Parts: sequence; C-alpha cells; structure tokens
Amino acid sequence: MKNIESKLKEKRVFKPSEEFVHQANLNSRTLDKLIKKYKTDSSLFWKELAVNEITWIKKFTSVCTGRSPFFKWFEDGTLNISANCLDRHIETDKKDKIAIKHVSEDNQINSLSYNELFSKVNSFSSGLKNLGLKKQDRVIIYMPTIPESITAMLSCARLGLIHSVVFAGFSSESLKDRINDCSAKVVITVDSFKRGGKFIQAKETVDRALAMGCPSIQHCIVYKNSSEEINFDESRDIWWDKIIDTNDKIITPEEMMAEDLLFILYTSGSTGKPKGIIHSSAGYLLNCLLTNKWVFDLKDDDIFWCTADIGWITGHSYVVYGPLALGSTILIYDGAPTYPDGDRFWKIIDENQVTVFYTAPTAIRTLMKLGDELPKRHKLDSLRLLGTVGEPINPEAWIWYHKTIGKENCPIVDTWWQTETGANMIAPLPGIYPIIPGTCTKPLPGIEIGVVDSEGNEVKDTKQGGNLVIKKPWPSMLRGIWGDEERYIKTYWEKYDNRFYITGDTARKDKDGNVWIMGRSDDVVNVSGHRLGTMEIESALVSHKYVAESAVVSFPHDIKGEAIHSFVVLRDNFKSYAGKQFADELREWVKIKIGSIAKPDRISFSTNLPKTRSGKIMRRLLRNVARGEEISGDTSTLENENILNQLKDIH
Ligand code: WTA
Repeated sequence: MKNIESKLKEKRVFKPSEEFVHQANLNSRTLDKLIKKYKTDSSLFWKELAVNEITWIKKFTSVCTGRSPFFKWFEDGTLNISANCLDRHIETDKKDKIAIKHVSEDNQINSLSYNELFSKVNSFSSGLKNLGLKKQDRVIIYMPTIPESITAMLSCARLGLIHSVVFAGFSSESLKDRINDCSAKVVITVDSFKRGGKFIQAKETVDRALAMGCPSIQHCIVYKNSSEEINFDESRDIWWDKIIDTNDKIITPEEMMAEDLLFILYTSGSTGKPKGIIHSSAGYLLNCLLTNKWVFDLKDDDIFWCTADIGWITGHSYVVYGPLALGSTILIYDGAPTYPDGDRFWKIIDENQVTVFYTAPTAIRTLMKLGDELPKRHKLDSLRLLGTVGEPINPEAWIWYHKTIGKENCPIVDTWWQTETGANMIAPLPGIYPIIPGTCTKPLPGIEIGVVDSEGNEVKDTKQGGNLVIKKPWPSMLRGIWGDEERYIKTYWEKYDNRFYITGDTARKDKDGNVWIMGRSDDVVNVSGHRLGTMEIESALVSHKYVAESAVVSFPHDIKGEAIHSFVVLRDNFKSYAGKQFADELREWVKIKIGSIAKPDRISFSTNLPKTRSGKIMRRLLRNVARGEEISGDTSTLENENILNQLKDIH
C-alpha cells in the first residue's frame, strides 16, 4: 500500500449535497439515537433491529450467546432466508416489481418480477427436493451471475441446503478441492457462458474436476445457457429443464434455526489451502439488510447495480441477499466491463437508469485509463450514489469517479469489509459523513473496531498503524471455517487470547476517528480486489515438475492495486529452461492449478532464493527487488549474497 499512501495529496473534504442529506435513510438525528441505544443496551439495539428487519417464523428470545470465539445470534429463533427474499414481498404490491434485470454481454435484457423469481425458485426447489437432498447437505454452484444462479442460491436457502458458490473462473483443480472439502452432493453449472465475446466452457471444467475424483458428488445439474455442444454423462448429469416443476407448485420454505448455515464461501488465507468461511442464516441476513439501507441508502425506486460476481462475498451480500431481502431491483451483467467497448458500464447505467453503482477500484482505474471521452458519451444522470470495495482506492481514482462518473453529485461510499465479516463494517453513512478520499471513514453503528499493537493495546499515535481488530461480536460474523475449528481459532483469535477478531489488515485511525486501511499483515495479496494467498500460488508453482522452490510477493500496480512477482528456482536438470518461454508456460500452469486471477505478472529465475543462515527465505529482500527499491535493512544474515543480482532478471 506504500504507493497509495505516498500519493495521498488529496486533503479536500467532500460533503453530501443538501438534496442527498434530505432524503437519506439515516440522518444525524437517527444516527445519534442508534448510537445512544447501542451504548445503553447493545443487546436491545440488535434485538429491535432483528425484530423489525427480519420476518421470523418463530421469534427468538436470546440475542447474543456463547463464549468467545464461538458466538450465537438469535439462537432459538427460526426463519427462512428465501422467504425473506421472496415470499414476504409477493404478499405486497412488490409482487410485480422487477427483482432482477439481467443484461447479457450481447445486450439481451431479461427482467424478472418478484413473482416471476418466486415461481422460478419454487420450480427449481421442487427439482432439487426430488433429488432427495436433506437439510444442510452441501451444493456447489459453478455458474456466472445470471438469474438462474441466483435462483439456485435462493432454492438452496429455501430447502435449507448449504450452498457454496465457486467463482466460475476457478480451474478444475480448485473446484475439485472445494467440492471435496465440503463433501458436496450436487454441483450446478451451465454448459458455457460468454465473456469478452468468447465462450467459456464451464461444464468441461466441471467434468475435469469430477474426473479427478469427487466421490461425494451424486449429480451435476446443467442449465442450458448457450447452444454449445457438451459432453453429457447420463448416469450423473441432469438438465436443469428436466427437473424443474412447471406446475406452479409452491414449495414450503424449510423452517431453519437462526444459526443453521446458509453458505460456505472459500477464500484465500496465509496457507496453501483455501478456507471455507461459514455463515449463519439470521445474523448474516440482518447485517446485509442494515447495510443495504444505511450505506447504499436503498429506496423503493432504486436500481442497484453491484458489479461483483456471485462467486465473491460482495455478490452474496450486495447482489443477492441484502437487496432482495429489502425488495429492491438489482441489475446484473455477466459480460466483460470493456466489451464491446470501454464505455460498456456507462452505457448500461444510462440505458437502464441505474441509481446506485458499486464496483471495485481496479475496475475504476481500468476505465479511467481509457480516457474521459468514453464516459462523456453518456449522461450518467440517473446515478445518485457510488460505492467501492475490495481494496484501497487511491485519491486519483476517487476524484475521477467523483467527477467524471458521479458528476460531483453522488456521495462515494468506500466500504471496508471481508468474506469473514459478511457485510460492510467500516463505511461512510452517505447522508451524514463528510468524506476524505482514501478513507473508509468510521465503523457502522453496532460495530466496535480497534487499531492495536502486538500486545493488543490501542495505538494512540494517529500516524502510526496497527492491527485492525473487531472488538465485539456482530450478527453477520463468520461462524468458523468448514471442518477446521483449530484453524479458525489460530487465524482469527489466538494472538489476542480470543479477546478480538483479527482482520489480518493493518490500518491507522486519524484524529477524527477515520480509518485508513494500509494493507495486509499476513501472506495474503490483493490483486484487482481478489484475495490470493502467496502460499497458494507458491504451492501451485512447485507442483510443476521442473520447479524446486518458489516465493511469491506482491508489488504495487497502477491498475490492479497489487500484482504478483514469483521468484522461481528450477531443479538441477531443468535449469536451462529459465527464460521467457518457460515463464509463460508457468503462467499457464498456475492458470490450470488455480485460475487466471492468480497468474504471476512477473517471474524471475535464480539458482537459489535469498535465505538466512538458518534457511528462512528473506521475503523482505524479495519485496525490495519486486518493488524496484533499494535493498533495505541488514543483509549480513544473508547466506548467499550474490543471489540478489540474479533476481533482477524478470520475465
Ligand atoms: C481488502 C471483500 C481497503 C482488505 C469484501 C480485506 C479493502 C480484504 C476494502 C477482504 C476497502 C476490502 N479498502 N481494503 N474498502 N475492502 N478490502 O474477503 O484487505 O474478498 O481484508 O472481501 O480486502 O477481501 P474479501
């Protein structure tokens, strides 16, 4: 994050317009009341919100119970999430309101009303039910962001099945690992989908994953999304259209306990193996609902476009569960941002009168680089609020977003949160806070954060950073890591004796209490807003039979925020392969092992890695090399100093 911090020259404070303040869901008065309530009785604060926001089957009597780090929220209450997203709206005049407006890459528009989505979910739920799946069985969804993948998520929720959406850009090997980790019984996919004008063969990837050995899988459900030919194994594969019930049968939503799991979402950590983050039902839904109201200020007539794929947490909370539970209209687009032209996003906004737009800084930087002429072709006057997520936004990109897209008329909410937190934790309240570009401002009502030193004491110095922690449990917090309690405790709690949740980020708090995210404190890199474990990429590289050793670090990148530099040592017999051609082969290898998002931008070959005399890789030096910096600090412990020159040969 060093480059981002050093470019921080923007000191202007941007206030929301009178007009915005006037209509905002939260104003200073309501915020004061909320804060007062939380301070007086935090349990009552959450209780009232949960009673008001969620439709319960059976009301809860307890609010937050359990002992750190295992908390339970609204434990004896029962509900169904799909009923909260659908059934409760179709009983009102929202019945005919558009729930999903799908824009395809070819600009085909498909709008579904709440009633139509309800029918779709019921008929697919009926099909899933007939397969004999039981409550809390696991289902993998390997699909692009289309109405059917959302239907699949809501159908799982309706039947109490735990879904795990795997981003459809992941490789067959990554998919296989996830299927096996949670012993999924069913995988739902599409034949293929289009991106950037090309067909991506999703079913083929699933076939390869299953061929590697996924003993728990009983069926593969395929939605016909294109006219591409696919292989079809009659004993295992089923067409979506064959199992759905077209008789308008209503499937009663399962009565789920508040703490029953809604989904598993895999994310990268500091070891090679991805973590299956688990989320509950009621607590998760509550923070999703609240943040869609408070941060995105959603109103009945908004058209909300969050560009995230459903394969990420942002897609779960701000495409599917939050907005639909609120009864909002969401826009989804499953094509490439620059297809057929660099103004595609702006065109979609104008043509569909999008009012609230939420995207990643990487996308903003990419589109900014293409020049102002492209957004200027469009009016963009339907927009009233903009948001960013996933990585720090540099002031240059913030100002461009504010001026060129928001026409200086839209508050920008820079939302900090994680797969683990389930929903926004630190974000501006758009009708209240003045905003300085680069800070995600303050924690939301009910969220208590800290910036602490290695002892767990609050860092008082406003210039100095510390570890960002969350000090009190919150409803949408992760409930653990699937099948790995020990890793859950070790990763998130142990360092401070279970007193705080450790985010893994470093941050500083300025004198006004605004939070500035500085970066990660662990071996996780953030490339284009995607979290990748350096160990995950290292294991992929060393699984190539020519590779003996590898170390991966990140370096600042103008568009992606951070990019990957891999240092590779080849086995003795293969040393002659060092060079551009083999570097490209290794990139392809990583793509096969993990997926395109993990392909190293740079590869350097050397005969060894810089190590201490005790054999520890000196990553600090590798970071210096990758960032083109002077080698910093002491190198006297370095065993093999001549290595440093070799490392600078980059492919
Ligand atoms: C980073 C994405 C700066 C952070 C929702 C966090 C951010 C990780 C911001 C989580 C932000 C997310 N400013 N950094 N507004 N939002 N991050 O799990 O490092 O994919 O820990 O969740 O992204 O990534 P994840």
